[in-house]
Amino acid sequence: MARLRNLLLLGGTGEALRLARELQGHNRVRCISSLAGRTENPERPPGDVRIGGFGGIDGLSDYLVAEKIDLVLDATHPFAAQMARHAHDACAALGIPRAKLVRPAWVPSPGDRWTMMPSVAAAAIFLRFHPAQRIFLTVGRQEIGPFVPLGHEDTPHGNGRWFLTRMIDPPADDIALPRGETLLARGPFTPDDEKALMQQHRIDLLVTKNAGGAAGKIAAAAELHLPVLMIDRPPLPPGAALDSVGAALGWINIHAV
Ligand SMILES: NC(=O)c1ccc[n+]([C@@H]2O[C@H](COP(=O)([O-])OP(=O)(O)OC[C@H]3O[C@@H](n4cnc5c(N)ncnc54)[C@H](OP(=O)(O)O)[C@@H]3O)[C@@H](O)[C@H]2O)c1
Repeated sequence: MARLRNLLLLGGTGEALRLARELQGHNRVRCISSLAGRTENPERPPGDVRIGGFGGIDGLSDYLVAEKIDLVLDATHPFAAQMARHAHDACAALGIPRAKLVRPAWVPSPGDRWTMMPSVAAAAIFLRFHPAQRIFLTVGRQEIGPFVPLGHEDTPHGNGRWFLTRMIDPPADDIALPRGETLLARGPFTPDDEKALMQQHRIDLLVTKNAGGAAGKIAAAAELHLPVLMIDRPPLPPGAALDSVGAALGWINIHAV
């Protein structure tokens, strides 16, 4: 009987979790899920799991060789550009097949009031010249820094800004937060709940990354006719890009021979 193919599944997303579940008991593949280890109490995928960074491209390359990895499926977050690049470079150098599973981006509907932003930093600069006063900030706790000074400045209309800053885990003690309220919560959130939250806090602008997936806040902002600063995704590394768990399973089945 042929040996099982070792698949390294770079995870941390709902898609990676679903893929690990689908691969349980696969007759040709042993799945090793890898988590960055930044989220407190992440849902643990079935099968083998390793946690923590690899130590850059060199560390990842050493791991791939030591663990005899045959395939790499990168199912990290669409904004995890560094991990995606490391996986691409290490696999290209070692000749290991690799693909990126990335959920489709959100696209605007007629009537949506989106302004596309190339980065989080650009969104903070743009906001400085925008009259919005009560801002719903949903960019993740690692990237709130550029918004902190804005809470202490007046808007172009002369009023102070207030932020509702949502994140999954509490920020570190020494991290400065934008002026306003911090909300700790893990999605997905329904459009109705998002709408109620925005109304309760009299939000007049949403800042979000184009993460794709459950779009409760996007639907709610559209219903309330709120402007949205939509932060564009970083570019993907070259190579196979798959847009669903089904497509990723197909790719794995083709390559696990
Ligand atoms: N909303 C969400 O649920 C969510 C989840 C994840 C990320 N994000 C967003 O994506 C952006 C980047 O996040 P990120 O720091 O995870 O990615 P990243 O910037 O691409 O990765 C930074 C480093 O973290 C380690 N790493 C990342 N994913 C890993 C995995 N699956 N297994 C092992 N190590 C891993 C690697 O460390 P080494 O170099 O040491 O190997 C990597 O170089 C942020 O803007 C963040 O807000 C959002």
